[in-house]
Order: sequence, then structure tokens, then C-alpha cells
Amino acid sequence: RLPEPYQVPLPVPDVLDPVRRGGGTDVYELTQQVADLEILPGLRTRAWTYGGTFPGPTVVSRSGRRTQVRHRNELPQPSVVHLHGGHTPAGSDGYPIDVILPAGGAIGAEQAMKAMTEGMPGHGGHTGHAGHGGISGMAEAERTYTYPMRQRAATLWYHDHRMSWTGLGVWSGLAGFHLVRDDEEDRLPLPRGDRELPLLITDRSFEEDGSFRYPLADPGLGRPGVTEDYMDGVLGDVVLVNGAPWPVHRTEGARHRLRLLNASNARPYRLEFDPQPPGGDAFVQIGSDGGLLERPVRHDAVHLGPGERFDVVVDFARWKPGTRVRLVNTLADGTAHDVMAFDVVRAPAADDSRVPDRLARIERLDPAKAVTTRDFHFRLGKDGWTINDDGYRPGRALARPKLGQLEIWRFTTSLQHPVHVHLNHFQVLSRNQGDPGPYDAGWKDTVDLRPTEAVEVAIRFTDYPGTYMLHCHNLEHEDMAMMADFVVE
Ligand code: C2O
Ligand code: CU
Repeated sequence: RLPEPYQVPLPVPDVLDPVRRGGGTDVYELTQQVADLEILPGLRTRAWTYGGTFPGPTVVSRSGRRTQVRHRNELPQPSVVHLHGGHTPAGSDGYPIDVILPAGGAIGAEQAMKAMTEGMPGHGGHTGHAGHGGISGMAEAERTYTYPMRQRAATLWYHDHRMSWTGLGVWSGLAGFHLVRDDEEDRLPLPRGDRELPLLITDRSFEEDGSFRYPLADPGLGRPGVTEDYMDGVLGDVVLVNGAPWPVHRTEGARHRLRLLNASNARPYRLEFDPQPPGGDAFVQIGSDGGLLERPVRHDAVHLGPGERFDVVVDFARWKPGTRVRLVNTLADGTAHDVMAFDVVRAPAADDSRVPDRLARIERLDPAKAVTTRDFHFRLGKDGWTINDDGYRPGRALARPKLGQLEIWRFTTSLQHPVHVHLNHFQVLSRNQGDPGPYDAGWKDTVDLRPTEAVEVAIRFTDYPGTYMLHCHNLEHEDMAMMADFVVE
């Protein structure tokens, strides 16, 4: 008994107010808490939330100003916060065993530790992790994450990253936007105000009573992992945009900036408008994971793997007033085909926004300057999902790049894996030795590898030494050990 699509108005997450600003730092507080939300009309869904809402509130940072977010964990589970796309010192990056314990919640410290060390299928435990305060910080139910924000304007997002349990955490509601703004972007005449919409797209399944359905192999939470049928990742039959099922947004016929985020556990999207506007090319892409592109790129459709962001401008004046414009996912049939709709209600009084031909200056990473090439194979091994034939083990580094140096990383796969690298954005050099794909422009932190593909990227390690992750952003693959450490020295 799923609800009819296009009944619920599109919610826009609130922007979080800082508790304090000063000395070049903005300080925020967020409580991670259980909340009963009305996601499906008339039913209640128990969610794990940042601050009581799903998505969590949007944090807005200014490039160059330090942002601190103090998280308090009132969930019944340990948690870890990762700022996806953040150029973040290692201690605040959300290393998967570097948990915030629940504040006197349902499980105690000892049990939390046990649940974590028993975490990975095929691995007996871990040996702690010096330098991350993983163990010493364990007694804390609060933790401050510090983000220097020495990075350009971009659409980032924050989400849970606990070892072996990220899929459940994000599915249960632990995700939100974190936008970075800067002067370069502010100078452009892009749509703004209520014509700038962040759209967090996820799929979920629900039980009859409205609760989230996540196919845990052990519903008692004693052991992580999903049932056999979901080895490829958990897909839902309801698409939520900003936490609402197939919402509808009434809009003037004017340009809108849509910050598209695929925050789904495992589902890829190929988004198209139905009907297409006359002349096609409905999406004018202005940015990707790491902020503005050099020049806009026009598309009929946008492909997003889990974790990816596409910043696009859509001119709703291209459809006649009175048109219902559906945003659909052409990779899915059935209920997951529909995503949301825009009802074009009238022509605008004024629209002085536009998309300039030149958006930003982007430094091209020169592959000839790379000091080394490293290979990372994403495969299904006999014990589960692997990178270079091993499942994740905290503390074992697959690569030790040096600070300041440029490297070429080559990702290869037999199946589909959205590959995400922490700390630095990268530039895609090639797919299968040919040119980069139509969705590879600009600075990326996640690249969707299709079956049998080889993708080469150039990446330079800057500012912060320490231990970071690369992993598949299909969250079930990630939880089933398709993750690795690299140490920047
Ligand atoms: Cu969005 Cu390591 O994750
Ligand atoms: Cu994967």
C-alpha cells in the first residue's frame, strides 16, 4: 500500500544556525537522536537522525572559515561522522572505528566495542589504532569534528561511517547536506534563494507499520551484514527526495539550481525529465563533487552513482505553464522509476539568473608529473568484497602516498562499484584507456565504475598527513569490507 506519487510537497532541509561565530570559526551543535517521523502519510517511521530530521539540517560553511561541529550521540548505537568531500584532517575524518559512544544508551561501552571488533565478516577483530584516539576517545558520547574548510565551494554531505554498520546507519536516516560557499561562486549570476534546491535522493523500503525495512542477517544487531539476497546492495521500492516520498515542487517557470545528491545505499540513477523540454539538454551541469566546472556541460540525462553529486541548472521556462515535469530514473522500473515532479505553475515575474560560459578556473593535474601509478582492483573474492584481493582491516595501509605529490590511481572492476576516495578530490584521466565519460568533468571524489571498466584518475595529496580511506560507496559493499586505508606521509 504505497502512497500515490506527487502528493507530498518537496521539503527543504533547514539550515543549521551556529551556536557561536568568532575568531574565524563557526561552531555548530548536533544531537544524533531517535525520532518518529511521518515519511509515508499517516504512518510513523522510527529513524536515527541528526537533530531530529531526515535529512539532517544543512550546514553552510564559508570557504576559509573553520567549521566545528559538536556531535552528541543519543542513539542506541555508536556512530561515526564523515564529511563526504571534506578536505579534512585525519582526526576529524570519521575513521570507521573512531566512534562516538551512545550517551547512556541501550548498549554499553563494552558491548559497543565487541560489536565493532566482531564487525567484519572474515576478520576476527582489530588491534586498536594508535593516533586516532579510537580507544581512548571511546568513553565519549560527544565529539567535536573540526573542518578547516580550506577548499572551494562545493556540495558536500555528512553521513554515518561506522565500521560494518554504515549501510544501516545511513538507511536509518543519518545523512545531511553540508554546503561550502565562496566568493568565486557568489560572483556568478546563478539562481539563488528559493531557486537553489538541494535534492538528497534515496530509496527505502518500509514495513506495513511504516518502519524502515533493512534486511539485516541478524535483526538483533549482534552481528552486521545483510541477508544473502542483498550482497549486491540494498534497494528500496520508495524513492525519497529530501526525506519525502516522490514529492512534488510547485515552481515558477524560471532557472533553478538543483544540487543533486545520490545518498542511496546502492542504487544508481539516470535522471531524465519527462517530458523533455523542446530541444533537449534539460540539464546544464555547472558543478560536480568538488565544485564548479570550468565550463557548463549540457546533458539530456544525468547519471549518479551512490555518493556522487551533480550541480545543475534547469530552466523551467522551457516547459509551458501548467506542465507537470517528472524527474524519472530510467535505470529502474516499477515504483523506483519515479523520483519527483515539478509543477510549472506560471511564468516568472523576473529571472535575471544565467549560466555564464566560463564558470571557474580549474587547475589541470598533469599526469606527466605523477610520481607513481597504483592499481586498485575491486572484486568479489571468496570471503566477500575486496580491494586488491583483501577485505578491510583497520590499520593496514594499501598505499602510502607522500604529502604534496601527484599520483595516478587506476581502478579496475568486474562489477559496478562507485569508488570514493577521502581527503583529496581527483580528476578523471580516462575510462578504458579512452577519454573520460560525459559525467567525469571537474573535481570528483566518487567515480562510478561500470562492469569491467578501468578508470584512471590523477590525485594530489595536500595539507594533511594521516590515515584515510578509499572504498566502494555501495554501502553494503563497504560494510562487507570493500574498503582500504591509505596513509599520507
Ligand atoms: Cu560518503 Cu567514506 O564516504
Ligand atoms: Cu561496490
